[in-house]
Amino acid sequence: MPQAIQAEPCILVIFGASGDLTSRKLIPAMYEMSKAGTLHERTQILGVSRSAKSDEQWREELLPWVKQHAKGFDESAWRAFAARIHYFAGDAVKSECYQPLRAHLDSLSKKHNTCGNMLFFLSVAENLYEPIVGEIEASGLVTEGKRWCSIDRETRSWQRIIVEKPFGHDAASAASLNRALGRAFEEESIYRIDHYLGKEVIQSLLVFRFANAIFEPVWNWQYVDHVQITAAETVGVGQRIAFYDQTGAIRDMIQSHLFQILSFVAMEPPTSFSPEAIRAEKTKVIEAMAIPTVDDLATHAALGQYASDGKEPAYHETNGVTPGSTTETYAAVKVHFDNWRWAGTPFFIRSGKKLKRKLTEVVVEFKAPPANLFRNLNGNGKAWHRPPNRMVIEIAPRGAFALRFECKVPGSGLRVDSIEMDVDYDQHFKVEPVEAYGPLIVDAMRGDQTLFKSRIEVEGAWNAVMPILDDRSRAIRKGIAANYAVGSWGPASADALMGPGRSWHNP
Ligand code: BG6
Repeated sequence: MPQAIQAEPCILVIFGASGDLTSRKLIPAMYEMSKAGTLHERTQILGVSRSAKSDEQWREELLPWVKQHAKGFDESAWRAFAARIHYFAGDAVKSECYQPLRAHLDSLSKKHNTCGNMLFFLSVAENLYEPIVGEIEASGLVTEGKRWCSIDRETRSWQRIIVEKPFGHDAASAASLNRALGRAFEEESIYRIDHYLGKEVIQSLLVFRFANAIFEPVWNWQYVDHVQITAAETVGVGQRIAFYDQTGAIRDMIQSHLFQILSFVAMEPPTSFSPEAIRAEKTKVIEAMAIPTVDDLATHAALGQYASDGKEPAYHETNGVTPGSTTETYAAVKVHFDNWRWAGTPFFIRSGKKLKRKLTEVVVEFKAPPANLFRNLNGNGKAWHRPPNRMVIEIAPRGAFALRFECKVPGSGLRVDSIEMDVDYDQHFKVEPVEAYGPLIVDAMRGDQTLFKSRIEVEGAWNAVMPILDDRSRAIRKGIAANYAVGSWGPASADALMGPGRSWHNP
């Protein structure tokens, strides 16, 4: 993220060229990067998939996806980009695929002078990650550090890999995947991508906190009553029923995207803006999470499944969902930290499908002032009765920072009311956000791991949610079928989780 250095030329090798992620996200994102001049002019893309087709056929297939999903389609930018796109037919889990693939990569590398640099992207089903990584290792494609003479200078080639979530299914499978990756690549060459870290406002959280002097002094247990992190969606599980029924909101959203936001909100100031320093602080956040035991779950987690809206069936009655499935389409979790900054300040995290509106945000709710000067004004005479100060950092659908505070209402006499200072981030900077994958893939081409997850973070995040996924968590899963209405803000149990005097920000 931080540097403006140009990435070196390389070949982006996408395993899973025919998959939805490739056409809907990766290729449009790469088109945007190519159009913006962010890709090195010699960088190429090679898609690998089983079906036989020519470079030209694949380009034609991709064109409508780019038109539909990329910002600002332009015919000549597309032609320039399409010339970088190549295709290789092969079954990436079979060893036979790799000799010809290697030869193809070699010839592309020579022709376009990409110096033997390769960035592999696993855009395939999770169960294929380990077999493919094993084949990459066995094939000798990873030659990291070998000398390579380019026309510019003598350089050393690199090979890196981007792995898409899910990183495993639980703590044990994540550790196994990490071991397989570690046999083929050094940790510095493994890029565990989380597209939420490509979102501008999430990156801006670090600048908001550490480039200003006024927020950090109050960003702790003394001043913050609690923090809420929400990722609400209006969509259901769509075509991904088989995947989702094995996954659920805790795995799909909470332990991945939402824990990443949590790390940025809760971390200590890093000693520098280097990837190592930032990742070290994020890791400490995950380590400081007080993991609830299975017995504590009723007070630490609320799960739900959406009901029928009269047009579409309830989740548990959907075709393809296992009968009696207790997979959650909604999850809310209360997290505590055992550390100096946050002891006693709970973080409430929630995510769900088919909720009232699409909304990703962080809400920091502050404590009441220590003394109440205004106790005799429009109130109950004693306790602080006004809404608390609140900072809302909206990540999607718009980017925005809003601070609520109290003011005197104009006019004679003294009346107190709340006002909100609201800055629309996107409008202010007059930028249309680009597809998050683009800048992240370019970061990997630059060798910048700041916005990628480390092995320890991934395993720590799994450990933190394991009690909720444990078989013994049946009690909190019992009776979740249809416990929230489509278009609502989730089940009543999630409100109860907040405890007295606190409520979710449900705009
Ligand atoms: C994905 C999840 O990682 O993130 C999806 O698998 C979810 O279930 C998506 O819909 C949400 O991403 P965004 O960027 O639309 O908030």
